[in-house]
Parts: sequence; structure tokens; C-alpha cells
Amino acid sequence: MSSDDNAISSKTQSDTPSDDNGATSSETPLDTPSANTGSTSSKRSDAPSVDDNASSFEKQIAIDQLLQIVLSKGDLSKWAEPAHIGRHRSLDVCHDFGLSPVVQAVKSHNNLNIQEKSICEGENSGESGSIAATPRPMSGLEPCPLLIEAWKELSKAVVNFENEPVGTVAALDTAKDSLNYDQVFVRDFIPAGLAYLLKREPQIVKKFLLKTVRLQSAEKKIDQFKLGDGVMPASFKVCHQNDLNTKEAIVADFGESAIGRVAPVDSGFWWIILLHAYTKSTGDTALALCSPIQNGIRLILALCLSEGFDTFPTLLCADGCCMIDRRMGVYGYPIEIQALFFMALRCASKYLQHQKDGEDLIELINKRLQALSYHIREYFWLDLPQLNNIYRYKTEEYSHTAVNKFNVMPDSLPEWLFDFMPRKGGYFIGNVSPSRMDFRWFCLGNFVAILSSLATSEQSKAIMDLVEERWQELVGEMPLKACYPAMENHEWQIVTGCDPKNTRWSYHNGGSWPVLLWLLTAVCIKTGRPHIAQKALELAERRLIKDKWPEYYDGKRGRYVGKQARKFQTWSIAGYIVAKMMLENPSLASIITLEDYCQGRARPVLRRSRSWSCSTDKAKPMY
Ligand code: GLC
Repeated sequence: MSSDDNAISSKTQSDTPSDDNGATSSETPLDTPSANTGSTSSKRSDAPSVDDNASSFEKQIAIDQLLQIVLSKGDLSKWAEPAHIGRHRSLDVCHDFGLSPVVQAVKSHNNLNIQEKSICEGENSGESGSIAATPRPMSGLEPCPLLIEAWKELSKAVVNFENEPVGTVAALDTAKDSLNYDQVFVRDFIPAGLAYLLKREPQIVKKFLLKTVRLQSAEKKIDQFKLGDGVMPASFKVCHQNDLNTKEAIVADFGESAIGRVAPVDSGFWWIILLHAYTKSTGDTALALCSPIQNGIRLILALCLSEGFDTFPTLLCADGCCMIDRRMGVYGYPIEIQALFFMALRCASKYLQHQKDGEDLIELINKRLQALSYHIREYFWLDLPQLNNIYRYKTEEYSHTAVNKFNVMPDSLPEWLFDFMPRKGGYFIGNVSPSRMDFRWFCLGNFVAILSSLATSEQSKAIMDLVEERWQELVGEMPLKACYPAMENHEWQIVTGCDPKNTRWSYHNGGSWPVLLWLLTAVCIKTGRPHIAQKALELAERRLIKDKWPEYYDGKRGRYVGKQARKFQTWSIAGYIVAKMMLENPSLASIITLEDYCQGRARPVLRRSRSWSCSTDKAKPMY
């Protein structure tokens, strides 16, 4: 835990659970979470031509688009017919240009685990998630009942605006006060959006991207303070103005209503990442290239690439600015934000147009990516040898030659870490700043680092080794811990401000979040270890439906439904769907994984096709 919270004890984390206030009590069983004390608190570009001067990336996208048009016309049989001469030619061309794995997956009719459904049907009908398109197992045998149920629940969470789906609410738990769980959260929509992309119903994602970018341009104020232009909302709600009969309006929350007034720093990054997934899976580059979206990307970049007093390339944030949206000692340079920042920069650089300030911006991005990857790979990385180095650090070193650059005190190393660190394996720690290393494990940051290739391939392997070696701690009986270990007692008091929702082994403070399954699955596929995800999925399948898709589980091993967890939490449902679909067809994971990061490599040039027009709202669907 952070060493600048000096009052925090670095004693071994006791196995004994705490009482309501986090005080020690020796009577409760080891896995018992603390009792609940808390108050609730264009038209699509027509068939693009493959220009001879086009880069291979452009060619790939154009070919992907061509293929999708063919596929969308239900012409799959041609592609599946081995003797068809035309097909052979086409496929050769595709190989030359390196067909994207997503389209390869879609193209391969036999592997497609989605029941065929008329392409036009349902596209604009708002029938997202209809059982008609329920995924089937690859074998073509009985559909998985759990998956059918999950799709049914997910479709209930879909929110429409002017008769078109624009997102999904956070939870549909009628037994609890909805607070803001009846809103569409940007971060929560990511797995739902991915599920619909995998199901080949991209329209909801497109609408979501366009609506949120429109919200970005609203004036944002908290009391009298104006937020940066690029800030994306944490969440939004479709309101029905009764007095005007059925008139609908979208009301966004940029943190001005959020509990604790936390800033949604992650929203803009997730938005760019989803845009990339949408483009990769549909081949519809027109959306990314239209001016509202280009402008949205630029505004987000302006926020996080501006020069200031910083001495580090990492992004400085306040507490609670990401998935962990409460005070949890994640202020400073949290790994989750840094990994999302890196991934969003990489995605943005693929789509930024060269006109106007495009070139300068791309140069800025490339420089930042280099500095950021160096910094994180060097200073956030912890494995056994590095732990031993820190343990032996000298302090008060001055000058460029300092080994202990951040003047970390070896005494701030927490006891739990010495046992937790396996011989084989490593991870990116939670935070690094002057005299502060937060050694906690944060799942989301580490997994996004793998997806985005912020982690080198060695580091990615080591993170997966750690997950395997520390399975009981990080997965236990329900995947997966958002953060490990939990803070308790004095540390909990000081760091969370006595937060009754974040008592030890609950919620963000060592609770287990089924939504993280999709990320686990994607990284398992990327690192060639699908068996790990399979094991986790089996654990989740035993309980998720029975427990009504809780938001999170409590306890050291995740054995208890979270004390304040919402039921029918949408991202728990969507996370399961994405994990299941990706495991059945691993090539689908490529919609969310980025290729290796090579410093200084020129980015591919993405141009509009000649027939492109910017009226994206009227863009024809891809499929
Ligand atoms: C909780 C989570 C946050 C999520 C929100 C809505 O506050 O911490 O990450 O976005 O619920 O589900």
C-alpha cells in the first residue's frame, strides 16, 4: 500500500477479519467479509477501392470491408466452397494483405457460433439481443442455456433514445435503490458493446459512440468550475419529459452528481478503445473518420497530452477516477489509468487524420507512447529480483546516477508482498511517485497492459504466471479480485476514510468482480493460455445465474455475494457473454487486442475512400 500514507501499518495483513469499523475480531471465519455497516451510501463508404499506393493497413481495411459486404449479402456459401476458383483468388489476395483476424473469423462460416439471421432484420429495429441471434456452441449442438439467459438479461438492459438503442443501464435490480445504476456508464458499456460487436449487431455501439461524443461538447461545470472540453461523461440517462408527452432528453453526468464528485478520467480512453473495436470488427472506417468523432478524439488528446509541471510521462489523477470510483488510495499515477492511456493513444493514432494539426499530434502521441512505455515497463514492474533490489535500496541518492530514483524507503515494503511474490511471475504495481510505491495488484491495469502490449511479451507471460501461481488469492472461488490484498484496520481508516462500502475483502477493497472475466479471457487468449480462462469461467458459471448476476462478491476467496452488490449488474452479464464467446472462438479476441508495440514505428496511413461522406448518422450499417 502507499507508503506516503505514513500512518499505514506495514504489518502482515492479518487473516482475522475486522468488525464493522475495520477493527480486529478473532471470531469470524477466515473468509468472512466484514459485516455491513455502510449506509448506502454515409453512408458507409461504398465498397472501397484498394489503391496501389495504399499502405497494407489501408488495403487490409478495404479488403475487410469488401469481404464483409459479400458476407453481409449472405454469400457465405461462396467462401465456404473450396472448389470455387474465384474464391481461391480472392483469398490469396486477402492473405497477401494480411486479412484481419476478426474478418477471418466472420468469414469462416463453420466457426461462426452465431445463428444466422437476416442482416437487415434487427439492424435498426432496436431488437438487440434477441434470442433469434443467440450464439450456439461451435459444435452446432444445443445452445448453452446460460448464454441464452445472459443474452436475455443483457437485452433487458438496453436503453433506447428516439427508438434506437444507445447503451445499457448499469444494473436492473429493482430490490435496491437505483442511485445512478439506472444510468448508462461509459466504462460499464464496454463489455456490453463488445458483446454486441461479437454478435454482429454493431448499431448500438455506433449510436453510443455518436451520442457520447455529442455529450462531450456540452458545457460541464461543477459549482462554478468548468471542466476541460475533452472530458467524456461518466454516465448518462435518457429522461422522459412527461409534460411534453414522450419527448426524450439525454442528461449526462461528468462527475457533478457522482458520489464524491469523482472525475471519470477513464471514460474518454474507453471511448477511443471502443471506437477501435467497432472499426476493427465492422471495417466501417467512415465512423472513425467523420468530423465529430475526429474532434472528440482530439479533445480527449488535448486534455491528456498538454504540457505542465509533470516530471513523469504518466498521467496524474485524483482518487476514484476509474473503475475504482471511490477513495481507495488510487490517486497519483494509477496503473489502470496509465494502461488505458497507453491503449487509447495507440488506438487514436490509427485514426487521426493528417489534415490540420494531425501530423503534430501524431508526433506528440508517438513521443508520449515511447516515454510512457519506458517509464511503466521500468519503474512499475515488480518481480522477485526487483523486489530484492528494492529491499536493498539505499536512500537519499542525489544526481542522475541514482539507482533508487524515486527515493523509495525499503521499510515501506509491506509484509504481505514477500509471501505473495512468486518465484516465477511478476506484475505492474499500482502506483509509482516520489517515495511512494503502491504494491497492490490491480487486475484491470495489468490486463489492459497486456491487451495493449504496454507489457512486453516477457512481462505479459510473467503476469499470467503470477495469476496461475496466486490463483487462490486472485481468483479463489469467484473471478476476479479487482485489487489485492484488502486494506484493513488502521490502513482502511486512513486510506478509504472509513468507507463502509469498502471494508476489507469487499467491493473495491479486495472484492471479486465477475466483469473482469472478459479481460481475463482476452489476455489468456493473447498469451496462449485459454485453459486459465476456461477454469475461471467454470467457476463463474457455477454461481452467476443462481446468484442473479451480482455486481461483485466479498470475502478472501470471493465466496459471498457482495454486501451491497446490485443483482442483474449489466457488465457482469456482458463480461460473461464476451468471455464465453471469445473462448468458443478465440480469434474474436483480436477486436480488443493490439499488436506488439515497437517504438518509433511509423503508423499506418488511413485515408477515406473516395465515396466517403461525413453524414455518419445516416451511415448504412456494415452487415
Ligand atoms: C460502481 C463501480 C464503477 C461502475 C459503477 C456502475 O460504482 O465502482 O466502476 O461504473 O458502479 O456500475
